[in-house]
Amino acid sequence: MAVYVVDHPLVRHKIGILRMESTSTSEFRSVSNEVAGLLIYEATKGFRTEKHIVQGWAGPVEIEAISGKKVTVVPILRAGIGLMDGVLDMIPGAKISVVGLYRNEETLQPVEYYVKLASDMDQRLAIILDPMLATGGSLIATIELLKRHDCRNICSLNLVCAPEGLAKVQAAHPDVDIYTAAIDDHLNEDGYIIPGLGDAGDRIFGTK
Ligand code: PRP
Ligand code: URA
Repeated sequence: MAVYVVDHPLVRHKIGILRMESTSTSEFRSVSNEVAGLLIYEATKGFRTEKHIVQGWAGPVEIEAISGKKVTVVPILRAGIGLMDGVLDMIPGAKISVVGLYRNEETLQPVEYYVKLASDMDQRLAIILDPMLATGGSLIATIELLKRHDCRNICSLNLVCAPEGLAKVQAAHPDVDIYTAAIDDHLNEDGYIIPGLGDAGDRIFGTK
């Protein structure tokens, strides 16, 4: 597995806005999607294109189009929904596969409550979306679910990661690449990322 920390002034600036306690729900939502758009830009760098001749305004012109890529985005409910628009703006043709998981607050283990995947998972690149990679349990459970459905081409977009969770995912699934805006310091005793963003689901949905 490779971990790509997307190091760009726009990303660093926007993550700073997300870290502020004073950031409103609507701004948290829009900036999360903006960072997701910047992460997907990096994550799709390896996409192949093929050349076509089309009719342009001044006659035939050679263009490039992305070739043969079937993509599904996989938001992990709930907070992963908060990255979806930013990614779909860039890949509007992607199918959406939904995985519902929540973390049991005592054990920190992921609990599955809803799954609806796209068809032909064996032929698709699956791009998992979740703002937070903390203990890594939710991401590992999602990767295992996708692999049980024969998906072999998987990457993950996470706004902020904890080093402890990254190491666990890396050990369990070395074939899965992770694109992130920040690797933070540590997890606290409640499994929250420090300094982190707080509870990303609550901040995106305006709940508490
Ligand atoms: C959060 C977050 C991840 C998970 C990360 O979800 O969005 O899915 O925790 O933690 P982990 O790496 O330790 O598994 P949460 O369970 O709070 O659910 P929500 O998205 O419904 O708010
Ligand atoms: N889930 C969150 O939303 N934030 C964390 O810091 C850890 C898990």
